[in-house]
Amino acid sequence: MKKIEIRIPIERYEKESELDGNDKTLLQEAREASLSAYSPYSGFSVGAAVRLKNGVIIRGNNQENAAYPSGLCAERVALFFASSRYPGVPIEAIAVTAKTKARVIAEPIALCGSCRQVLSEYENLHGQPIRIIMCGESGPVVIFGKASDLLPMSFSSKDL
Ligand code: THU
Repeated sequence: MKKIEIRIPIERYEKESELDGNDKTLLQEAREASLSAYSPYSGFSVGAAVRLKNGVIIRGNNQENAAYPSGLCAERVALFFASSRYPGVPIEAIAVTAKTKARVIAEPIALCGSCRQVLSEYENLHGQPIRIIMCGESGPVVIFGKASDLLPMSFSSKDL
């Protein structure tokens, strides 16, 4: 048996103000998107913003439903709209943040597994890495350079 170690490079900034211009703008867009989330059941409002290679920024937020599983995460709302409106245009980056009345979220928001899978699909489709910027309401920002770092050994069209 041979053990394989997976090392993942991660950027970490203690404050949002340390981010470079593009990352900061995208995170601000995500934060604005979180303000109009439809999250009456969880009270957890997530905002996402996607930057495309053509410079367009698409926002999304979580959309919940009384039939709980029918709702959708902010990231997929933004990604699916981006791909439907601009098919064939590579995705450069996504920023994600959240807020809740329950507490101040002072740590980066982790993307759920389904959203990681969807990011992986578009990364493979366009053959271009997607930068993933995660932040809470305040506190540190964590950045992954590509979706495959967030979902190693993922299922893809190659497996079909
Ligand atoms: N949620 C997102 O929008 N993105 C994530 O990555 C994690 C969870 C939403 C789904 C649901 O509306 C609420 O947050 C609580 O799980």
